[in-house]
Amino acid sequence: MDVPPVWFMRQAGRYLAEYRALRAKHSLLELCHHPALAAEVTLQPIARLGVDAAILFADILLPFEPLGLGLSFAAGEGPQIERPIRDAAAVRRLPAPDPAQSLDYVLEAARLVASALPADVPLIGFAGAPFTLASYAIEGGGSRTFTRTKAFMYQEPDAWHLLLERLAEFVGCYLAAQAAAGARALQLFDSWVGCLSPQDYRSYVQPHTRRTLALAAQSGVPVIHFGTGTAPFLEDFAAAGGDVIGVDWRIPIDQAFDRVGPTRAVQGNLDPAVLLAPATVRERQVRDVLARAGARAGFIFNLGHGVLPETPVEAVRAVVEQVHGG
Ligand code: CP3
Repeated sequence: MDVPPVWFMRQAGRYLAEYRALRAKHSLLELCHHPALAAEVTLQPIARLGVDAAILFADILLPFEPLGLGLSFAAGEGPQIERPIRDAAAVRRLPAPDPAQSLDYVLEAARLVASALPADVPLIGFAGAPFTLASYAIEGGGSRTFTRTKAFMYQEPDAWHLLLERLAEFVGCYLAAQAAAGARALQLFDSWVGCLSPQDYRSYVQPHTRRTLALAAQSGVPVIHFGTGTAPFLEDFAAAGGDVIGVDWRIPIDQAFDRVGPTRAVQGNLDPAVLLAPATVRERQVRDVLARAGARAGFIFNLGHGVLPETPVEAVRAVVEQVHGG
């Protein structure tokens, strides 16, 4: 069997001592705003883990700064949006900044990383998908139930579609700009889209994700379309686009391959919590993912979502070695 490539969502972050050391001196936004620091954090897991790709250090919510929504990260509480979008007027008031100009510091970090990486380790750029971004913009932060998001979607469908159109244009161009700056693949994170019913996904979200992915595809680099909780509507999710479909652990990866069809690659899908399990359990579960992917072309090993902060670095390294056959 061919050895699949392996990288991890959130492979740079709090579970790494060298990241925590930098975070002791700088806030998350400072790390993002300074290209040299963001490049340093991006490169940390490459040396430490032996992964096959780097993911740019940034955050999906950075576009909220040029969009005028106000973004901060409170210690231990996650993101806070100062001026959440709560009515149609707020959508119409949104400015239309140029992503390449307004997020130039991200592109500069991409250029620095691209020139520092070994030739066989590609840089992955990323952005948040219109639905997931809209959910933060409307809720004002994280949510479990997405009540305000869904209420807005049902009560103000015109403003909803306008908001997602605006986000799709911004994010699609932003992704293409990251490719121009040296990213050799792009990932669109629709982290919370699994909270929707299949029919609501199709009518309220899919056209906007399709537009985003079409804009990103114009860059010519492969695009990974990732979401969690997408098993109930995986065909619709895949139909929105992406050269690679990223799935979480709630669906066995052989079933994901069968359902997205032979023309697309699949990325996933170990439960991040398995990295907290005893080695024997972890090794068995990694073997199971590898066996289910089998000899299929276009398999990328990853977790089903990001590395948890509690994760021992040794467990992450061990998974890389196991996937590489060591
Ligand atoms: O290594 C990498 O994956 C690259 C860096 C990266 C960050 N955020 C840095 C970050 C990436 C790819 C993201 C994406 C992101 N950000 C997503 C999509 C991925 C996912 O997990 O679904 C989302 C939903 C966000 C929004 C966000 N950023 C939240 C909800 C939080 C707080 C909760 C948390 O995980 O800590 C953040 C903060 C954040 N972004 C951290 C990092 C390393 C941790 C904060 C810190 O260092 O204090």
